[in-house]
Amino acid sequence: MLNQVYRDEDVDLSVLKNKVVAILGYGIQGRPQALCMRDSGVKVIIGAGARDQFPDWDAAEQDGFEVYDFAEATRRADVIHVLLADPAQPSVYKESIHKNLKSGSTLSFAHGFNVLYGAIQPPKDVNVVLFVPNAPGHLVREKYLAGSGIYGAVAVDQDVTGDAMKIVLALAKAVGSTRVGVVEVEFDSETEGDNFEEQVLYGGTIALMRAVFDVMVQNGYPPYFAYAKSIRSLRSVIDVMDEIGIEAYISERSSRTCEFAVRMSGPRVINRAEIEKIFEETIRGDFAAAWMTEWQLGMFHLHRMRRTWKKSLMEKVGHEWRKLFGGG
Ligand SMILES: NC(=O)c1ccc[n+]([C@@H]2O[C@H](COP(=O)([O-])OP(=O)(O)OC[C@H]3O[C@@H](n4cnc5c(N)ncnc54)[C@H](OP(=O)(O)O)[C@@H]3O)[C@@H](O)[C@H]2O)c1
Repeated sequence: MLNQVYRDEDVDLSVLKNKVVAILGYGIQGRPQALCMRDSGVKVIIGAGARDQFPDWDAAEQDGFEVYDFAEATRRADVIHVLLADPAQPSVYKESIHKNLKSGSTLSFAHGFNVLYGAIQPPKDVNVVLFVPNAPGHLVREKYLAGSGIYGAVAVDQDVTGDAMKIVLALAKAVGSTRVGVVEVEFDSETEGDNFEEQVLYGGTIALMRAVFDVMVQNGYPPYFAYAKSIRSLRSVIDVMDEIGIEAYISERSSRTCEFAVRMSGPRVINRAEIEKIFEETIRGDFAAAWMTEWQLGMFHLHRMRRTWKKSLMEKVGHEWRKLFGGG
């Protein structure tokens, strides 16, 4: 039932010994992963977009990396780890990466989106792999520096050299993930699972927090109180559930009143049919197509929603609430 799990002792970093790893993109994932890999002894260079348009070039140089444009970084590298925003990847790939890939090199991603849906079609003579640390980049770095790491997943889509899995595992080890554990997954299911999780789990949880806040405030509860109920309460229980399991949390750590509330009313909140519909849409590629269209048209839905939500009462109250109560 459990997929193959790899830990530090199963993975040999020396497979990267005489290789150059180019990290393309120096953003949320690129910077932390590059710093960790360098600290692990890997030779890392950075590929970045034009200096006057993107912050990556200057930021990477300030951190002491050699920085090149995408084409030159690809030419110089044996492993090309693409950490650009997903919708930006196809055009960068077509213009700068594809024709500069050396035969036998490794093209690596942190999300399989563009390969799965065909916006990037790598040549047949390179390895294609996936390494996904299961957290935002700043946590990857924080955990690495603390001697730990972030649980992650690896997959191989194309193996031309016979050691593609060893290479991607070495990347995972170099950012600390095998200190905790890395699972081998299918390239396609990791990608679809990621898109599904972001829509339903992140999207659904955030929508639920907003709904809890709005209903309480509309019914006359003080906004600070509603804010604490809709966000902080969740934070206080999620780590416990992760540590001991959902069932142990409900039956052993919560009050009996809470247990009754959770078991009786919780399922009424969930629209299972809608979740299944989102799953089908994700598998079919509808989500991918909608996201690529949104990006190409300038993200007008996202900009509009950001503007509205930024001005919402919940955001304003949250700002004040954090000043008053901070992390406590
Ligand atoms: N973020 C996460 O927590 C996370 C977790 C797991 C996997 N991933 C995956 O990791 C990959 C990288 O994601 P990310 O969140 O690290 O990306 P990101 O920070 O949004 O973008 C990476 C960098 O690329 C730059 N960039 C964007 N478009 C560009 C273009 N057309 N030309 C040149 N540079 C460009 C960005 O500059 P600007 O900021 O100026 O746009 C940014 O500095 C994605 O495949 C993502 O799915 C992310």
